[in-house]
Amino acid sequence: MNVFVTGASGWTAAPLLEALHLAGHSVIGFDLAPLSFAAPGLLAHHLGDIANFKSVRVAIEDASPEAVIHLAIAIGENDYLEPGRPFAVNVQGTYHVFEAARQAGVRKFVLISSAPVHLPQSGSGIRAAEASWESSPREDHLYDLTKRLQETIARDFSATFGLEVVVLRAGHIVDGQTDRDAKSRDLADLQYCRGGWVCRHDLAQACLLALGLDKPGYTAFHIIGASEARRYFDIDRTEKMLGLKFTNRFENYFP
Ligand SMILES: NC(=O)c1ccc[n+]([C@@H]2O[C@H](COP(=O)([O-])OP(=O)(O)OC[C@H]3O[C@@H](n4cnc5c(N)ncnc54)[C@H](O)[C@@H]3O)[C@@H](O)[C@H]2O)c1
Repeated sequence: MNVFVTGASGWTAAPLLEALHLAGHSVIGFDLAPLSFAAPGLLAHHLGDIANFKSVRVAIEDASPEAVIHLAIAIGENDYLEPGRPFAVNVQGTYHVFEAARQAGVRKFVLISSAPVHLPQSGSGIRAAEASWESSPREDHLYDLTKRLQETIARDFSATFGLEVVVLRAGHIVDGQTDRDAKSRDLADLQYCRGGWVCRHDLAQACLLALGLDKPGYTAFHIIGASEARRYFDIDRTEKMLGLKFTNRFENYFP
């Protein structure tokens, strides 16, 4: 199928574009930045800002895709010092992508969300993928809140317009094949979110499975490979319902 991917130039999208190609899909990318890696089978790559509705609408209309995978997110160094950019890109931009997809008759939508934004602030126990939530009161609040609002938009488009939406709530994304993170740091030296990592290649496989999932309505899954995460998230459900087999559980990194 033809798949429209936002945030296609990002580190997280690189193995996804490769996996989509290997699975026989054609990709149309959309990003602020040009691609910095080889992407065989890419039909087109649109340079644009998801905060600009017209730019997204024209690109999706032109691509006429069967499915959309939405990864784009504000990542500028100072983007989270003020609310303007996170709301314009993460929230309004997400609305733009959903609305342009709806207008173009797209039926399948995969949203890359975040699992850590759903960690309970108090208490313990397993976090269910479709439970309600509270936000982090700390410095991550703006990122966390805008990621949660993306899920609200996704739920709304599914309930109101019948879009088939799969939300993939990823853990902290690293590369378990090279044992590096997005900044090329050795995982042995990385403490951030240890116990909550997911390999970007496993996330790419989760996207492929989400495209093939035959389930109407709104469905959310936690996508975290690290074994430790099973104490907090319903990973068994992800494996059973989505059929995902994590290739990297990062057991060597957790005592
Ligand atoms: N990085 C993580 O550990 C992590 C964890 C959980 C979820 N996620 C989610 O995964 C997705 C990918 O995020 P990432 O942090 O890996 O970043 P990334 O490295 O994949 O980069 C995001 C891409 O989005 C593009 N982009 C930014 N603003 C844009 C705009 N206005 N219009 C079009 N394109 C734009 C950037 O140019 C970049 O190529 C996001 O939805 C993010 O919330 C990331």
